[in-house]
Amino acid sequence: MNSRKQFGIDIINDCLLDDCYLTQKCIDCCNKEGRKYIAKYTPSVEILLQVIEQSSEKGLIKPNNIVTSSGSVLVMIFDDFVLKLYQSSSTWNKVVDILERTYECPYVINMRNFVSIENGNKDSCYLEFNLASYFRNQVKIHAIVTDKLNPIVTYSPSDIRTLKLEYTEVFKLFQEIGIALDCIKESGFSQGDCTFDNIGRIGDKFVLFDFNCVRSNLRIDDDIAFLIKSARFNLKKEGKKITDFLNYVSSSKYPKFFLSKISEYCEEYDIKI
Ligand SMILES: Nc1ncnc2c1ncn2[C@@H]1O[C@H](COP(=O)(O)OP(=O)(O)OP(=O)(O)O)[C@@H](O)[C@H]1O
Ligand SMILES: [Mg+2]
Repeated sequence: MNSRKQFGIDIINDCLLDDCYLTQKCIDCCNKEGRKYIAKYTPSVEILLQVIEQSSEKGLIKPNNIVTSSGSVLVMIFDDFVLKLYQSSSTWNKVVDILERTYECPYVINMRNFVSIENGNKDSCYLEFNLASYFRNQVKIHAIVTDKLNPIVTYSPSDIRTLKLEYTEVFKLFQEIGIALDCIKESGFSQGDCTFDNIGRIGDKFVLFDFNCVRSNLRIDDDIAFLIKSARFNLKKEGKKITDFLNYVSSSKYPKFFLSKISEYCEEYDIKI
């Protein structure tokens, strides 16, 4: 077997370790023999390889880690980028839409590339593909490539949860994520799952990621309430200073008001962000 085909099969085999059913739902990549899924090299797998090649400075590389997200998205984590494969074009569309609208906001994860191919229709950012037209109708893939960040909440293999955040950083986190929420709201969306689990670091910035639950319906906008609830949960051991701060900003429903409450509080108590 040629080495490219073998590489495609190897990557799919790694994905199958995580969740075969989901992997096959996200990308046409296996045969089912009895209860077993067998990885195969399909036109969709070839497109996946081309997405990886074009996103990576090192050519074709394997992900360091593969996880699933809410049972519906396959997440491939590479050295310096993350590739997500969506089952449905509708979630993919919403995520692409919000990430395109907020691309100037430094506190929202940066989308490097996206591609959706189904029934011969293609929607993509910069990617160009090499595939004989005969195979084009067989491809189904909805992929988004973003920057990689370091999540502030991590889980050990035995599922022990760790928060990597000093309490002195909470004010900066609130300000930066507040700016992200303002951009999102100005774009007509709410993020839908604004918790510490979906915040990471890139350099010295806090960045919001995971837009799987994004909504364009602003009547249900709980983003700030979710962020404060998550802060109360994650920082419950941090004492009075943090509790006072959270109480002070908790009346804000709108990002702009939230940001002004953060500034007011920090000015009052001489906190430098
Ligand atoms: N850009 C990224 N950089 C680094 N890691 C990421 C990135 N995006 C996702 N991840 C990792 O993949 C995991 C799942 O991704 P995501 O947050 O999008 O989905 P989820 O629905 O919250 O998943 P879960 O079911 O684990 O809650 C994250 O918890 C994080 O560890
Ligand atoms: Mg998440």
